[in-house]
Amino acid sequence: MSVVKINVLTVPAEQREVLEKRFASRAGAVEGADGFEWFELLRPVEGTDQYLVYTRWRDEESFQAWMEGSMKSAHQGGGEGAERPKPAASGSTLWSFDVVQSAAPKNA
Ligand code: HEM
Repeated sequence: MSVVKINVLTVPAEQREVLEKRFASRAGAVEGADGFEWFELLRPVEGTDQYLVYTRWRDEESFQAWMEGSMKSAHQGGGEGAERPKPAASGSTLWSFDVVQSAAPKNA
């Protein structure tokens, strides 16, 4: 069963552009992680002012392996040896879900 992991980011209004730019130049390493299924950066429009980093994984083990491995380098921002820039987000919370049902459009 797939699992969904959402990192909920609190981002001050003046940091939104910085955050989106950082994601635009993100490592792109997650795409190669074993068990990785989907990623979306969701910008809040209504109902919340928190950004969601949506990720879906084959199983809990795949997510844990990514967290212990390339997740760290994917969050260096600026490359190896570079000092980590100040985070654009002022806080973060991890939400975990089991995928109970899913659907995709039928092929035309
Ligand atoms: C300490 C809390 C965290 C903060 C403030 C944060 C923020 C960020 C930022 C700003 C980036 C853009 C790359 C960079 O500049 O570093 C990024 C990348 C990413 N974050 Fe986080 N993050 C955190 C933890 C997590 C966690 C727990 C997850 C798991 C759902 C996650 C999922 C991702 C993914 C999938 C990417 C893209 C990596 C890639 O392209 O390979 N983040 N994060």
